[in-house]
Amino acid sequence: MTELIHHVRELTRLSGVRRALVPTMGALHQGHLDLVNAAREKVGPTGEVVLSIFVNPTQFGDPADLEKYPRTLETDLEKCEAQGVDVVFAPTVGEMYPEGIGSPHSISVQPGPLGSVLEGADRPGHFAGVLTVVCKFLNIAQPNCAFFGEKDYQQLTLISQMVQQLNFPVDIVGVPTRREPDGLAMSSRNAFLNSEQREQAATISRALFAAQQVQGTIREKIDTAESVLRGVGNTSYLVAMSEGLVREYDPGEVAFAGRLLYAGVLGNTRLIDNMAIGIESDT
Ligand code: PAF
Repeated sequence: MTELIHHVRELTRLSGVRRALVPTMGALHQGHLDLVNAAREKVGPTGEVVLSIFVNPTQFGDPADLEKYPRTLETDLEKCEAQGVDVVFAPTVGEMYPEGIGSPHSISVQPGPLGSVLEGADRPGHFAGVLTVVCKFLNIAQPNCAFFGEKDYQQLTLISQMVQQLNFPVDIVGVPTRREPDGLAMSSRNAFLNSEQREQAATISRALFAAQQVQGTIREKIDTAESVLRGVGNTSYLVAMSEGLVREYDPGEVAFAGRLLYAGVLGNTRLIDNMAIGIESDT
């Protein structure tokens, strides 16, 4: 039986067993359930899987985007029950930010330079909001491990950096992206696409898969993805970054291992995706 709790003190009280945390903003889909399954596998049948549902205002720049974000607590709870989640923690905004949103007394976690490129360039302040709320959830739930999707690769990287650099005693686990049968990365935002946009959206993963398959340089791989994507939405970025998103691919490199990251807007909906990309030196 899944227990639903709303207050911080109820979650800090529950304890004593190995605990896994799955932070979400709700509107759960199979990608989230993959996180739950990975969490259960890690803590075992006697461990505790806690899933948080909180649409975090501090990571949204645009109030309209925050307003329209899907909120589906009842069906989310049914999915959690069916998936064997032990506790759903669904706090209010006041419970999470008693000092008030945008209060001059707010303290936040600031990402380093990686927080202001790619998603951070298009969504200023986004990653400070993400890191701050994840920091709070980790402190409240005190989990042994926490699970995040690889679809939000920059987010996963920044959370891993925060935990490492600020010495949080928790394992951060990345879980591979769950895709629709046509390849589109699952996302709560896919629900905003109309049928034409939904069809076009499948081109994003097709482009990234096509790039992976090119036998050539990273530049040739990116060019292939660009040509597949031509005419599909507005691309914000399509860029190859090294592991850990430390630096952009340099055309002089003969060996490279990293990620090809995409973001773009279809209609009014921002979509992101990424895949591993690399070339090995012949020598
Ligand atoms: O990926 C998400 O759903 C959110 O950014 C997260 C990690 C739950 C923080 O609000």
